[in-house]
Amino acid sequence: MRMNDLIAKKRDGLELTTEEIRYVVFEYTNGNIPDYQISAFLMAVYFNGMNKRETLDLTMAMRDSGDVLDLSQIDGVKVDKHSTGGVGDKTTLVLAPMVAACGVPVAKMSGRGLGHTGGTIDKLESIDGYQTSISEDVFIKNVNNIKIAVTGQTANLAPADKKIYALRDVTATVDNISLIASSIMSKKLALGADGIVLDVKTGSGAFMKEEKDAISLAQEMVDIGTGAGKDIVAVITDMDQPLGKAVGNSLEVIEAIETLKGKGPDDLMELCYVLGSYMLVLGKKAKNTEEAREMLKDVIETGKALDKFAQLVEAQGGNPEFVYDTGKFKKASIVMEVQSARSGYVEKIHTGDIGEVALILGGGRTTKESIIDLSVGIILHKKVGDKVEKGETIATLYANDPDRLSEAKDRLLSAYDITVTPAKADILVKWIVSKNGAKKY
Ligand code: URA
Repeated sequence: MRMNDLIAKKRDGLELTTEEIRYVVFEYTNGNIPDYQISAFLMAVYFNGMNKRETLDLTMAMRDSGDVLDLSQIDGVKVDKHSTGGVGDKTTLVLAPMVAACGVPVAKMSGRGLGHTGGTIDKLESIDGYQTSISEDVFIKNVNNIKIAVTGQTANLAPADKKIYALRDVTATVDNISLIASSIMSKKLALGADGIVLDVKTGSGAFMKEEKDAISLAQEMVDIGTGAGKDIVAVITDMDQPLGKAVGNSLEVIEAIETLKGKGPDDLMELCYVLGSYMLVLGKKAKNTEEAREMLKDVIETGKALDKFAQLVEAQGGNPEFVYDTGKFKKASIVMEVQSARSGYVEKIHTGDIGEVALILGGGRTTKESIIDLSVGIILHKKVGDKVEKGETIATLYANDPDRLSEAKDRLLSAYDITVTPAKADILVKWIVSKNGAKKY
């Protein structure tokens, strides 16, 4: 087989065989195909798509490119969660400790930033000492001891996805249903949790801008998971504005900590209750989502979820004092308030552009080798539906490089649509997708 023939086949819209897909995945993982050929291949897939069989083959090949973990050494029903990625999406940082505090083991492997969206692993690195790369043994031991571990993808878990993910991030080949579904599901299947809750985002800050595409992506992943014997549900949620108010690595961790204290933004808290409820039901800790929500509220009100986060940080080598004193996070040296040029109501926030502002400030990668600045970002003071006066601060920028400020400010202002007529935010939780299809929430 020759890689250029396979690129040409996909470029011409033809279907690849199982053997051809496995060849691409395994040879790339082993370093026998260069990045430039895979980049071209990904672009061909991006434009011509893959059918369900090809997507399943790609998922299984990426899963089989490395180890498939045996989580049977962890007691209880293990439940995993994954988001398709959004702006300001710090859900895992809140949800994982909440669910673990309710007694469901959370063995979580998270990703780095992708495109205009942030990644949990980058965010966690803003806590002094936190190890985002721990051995499989420590991972399993920690989940057994304290019910929670959140780490980066170990070198040998779906290594093909790890390489392809990094390449997609910088070659404009992220937002494709087959590539996203196979990326997420290869990792979920290699990790071996019993239950999986997927948070599939839709809207201007999501990879799936249209609701119908988000439902197709969700159904594709649910079908792959169900076929592999997993208990799996997908929740379609709004990403037509950033989640919460903070965008940027350490700013998001601080907001997550506030949310664990019960003082976070309403949308983030609500999303954690909805996703957490499904996690507790799949984890067999609650009979139904109503009972689960009560349990989750209790761990927030009693501070048990916050303490669980501190335990997680400490168990992974981080300084748990960061959890109780957020003043310890490294601060950006420049703080700039951005004021509205007119009065009215926020009608829309072009959410992908807010993610781009974070990138401009240095909070994301532009090449595989980029080093990101964890302290930069944005705090949004106005969200969709809010009334704004001319001259009122709509957002604060946190930066370290003065040369990037004016571009960031212009981009931020153009991301806000302000109109004279009152506007309303879209609903947060839209659809639940299971093996029986999609149902309105
Ligand atoms: N999250 C992933 O792990 N992969 C994607 O492709 C998108 C979001």
